[in-house]
Amino acid sequence: MKRFVVLLILLFWASLCLFARGSKETNDFIGVIFYREDDVFISEVRAEIEQISTSEYPLNIVTSNNSQITQNAQVDEFLESGNCKALIINPVDRTSVGLLIEKAKKKNVPIVFFNKEPLSSDMNKWDKVYYVGADAAECGKMVGSIFSEYYAKNTASVDRNGDGILQYVMIKGEPGHQDTELRTEYTINTLLENGIAVERLHESSGKWERDKGKSIMERCIATYGNEIEAVFCNNDEMAIGALEAINESEVFDGIFLPVTGVDGTSHGMAAIEDGSLLCTVQNDASNQAMAMYKLAIELVKGNVPSESTIGYPIEKKRYIFIPYSPVLAD
Ligand code: GAL
Repeated sequence: MKRFVVLLILLFWASLCLFARGSKETNDFIGVIFYREDDVFISEVRAEIEQISTSEYPLNIVTSNNSQITQNAQVDEFLESGNCKALIINPVDRTSVGLLIEKAKKKNVPIVFFNKEPLSSDMNKWDKVYYVGADAAECGKMVGSIFSEYYAKNTASVDRNGDGILQYVMIKGEPGHQDTELRTEYTINTLLENGIAVERLHESSGKWERDKGKSIMERCIATYGNEIEAVFCNNDEMAIGALEAINESEVFDGIFLPVTGVDGTSHGMAAIEDGSLLCTVQNDASNQAMAMYKLAIELVKGNVPSESTIGYPIEKKRYIFIPYSPVLAD
C-alpha cells in the first residue's frame, strides 16, 4: 500500500512536470519590423536589440525593403499568426501608420514605434501605442554649437575668402523625416544665434546614403569649387560619402574643409578618430534598443509601463526620448 501511494505521488509529480514544460512551449514572439535592411544606423539598432533579447521574450525580425505596402502586409501576417504579442515598428512612412494602429488595436497587440515619429493624431488612436526616439532639435542645436565654437577659434582658416559669411552645403536625410527637417533647421538657427552669417550654396537630400552623399558633394565641388567653407550632413554615412568626394578631388588638397555628421556609428567614430570628420552627435542605438525591448515586454505582460519598470523617463505618457551626445576629436 505504502509503495502504491509513493508510486502515485511520483506519477502525479511527473505529470505536473510534463504539463509545466508543455505550457512553456509557446510560439509567442515580439514582432520587429525595420523599414529597410541596409540602413547603417538601423542595423546598429538591430544588432543591439538582438543582443539583449532573451528566449523568454523572443523576437521575430523582418525588414520592409523601404515599402510601406510591404510593411503593412508584414503587420497583417504577424497579427494573423496569433502569436505576435507586441509589435516594434520602424515605419517606412511615418505619416501612414494610422491603419496599422487600428488593426493592432482590434487584435489587442500593443505597438512600440521607433525612429520615425508618427503623427500625434495617429499616436492618439490607442493608449497602447508608444514611441521611442531622440529629440532631433536637440541634435541640430548640438551640431550648431560645436560648429560655432570651432568657427570662433578658427575663423580665418574656415572663412577662407574673408567675407565674414560662411558658405555652406547641407546634405539632408530622407525628406519628411523629423530628423531631417529638425536637424537641418536647428543647426542653421544655432549658427545664426551665435552671430555667424551664412550663405547656403546648396541643399539636397542624400536619403541617409553614403553614395548619394558622395555624388551630391562631387556635384557641389564641380559647381562651387573651393568657395565651399563647411558641409553639414544629417548623418554620418552621407558625411563619409562627402569626405570621399573631397579626398578624391584636388580642390581641397592641403585645406581642411569641416564636415559634420550625426549618429556616431562605428564608421562615423572611425572618421572622428582619424581626424577627417569635424564632429558627430551620438544617436544612442544601444539605449533606444533597450527602451524598445523593455517597453514591449511590459506591454506583453499587460502592464502600464512606467519609469521604474522601464528605466527611462516617459514623456506625455507614451514617448521615450533618448538623449543625444556630442562627439568631437580630442
Ligand atoms: C536617423 C539616422 C539616420 C537613419 C534614419 C532612418 O535617426 O540618423 O542615419 O538611420 O534615422 O530613419
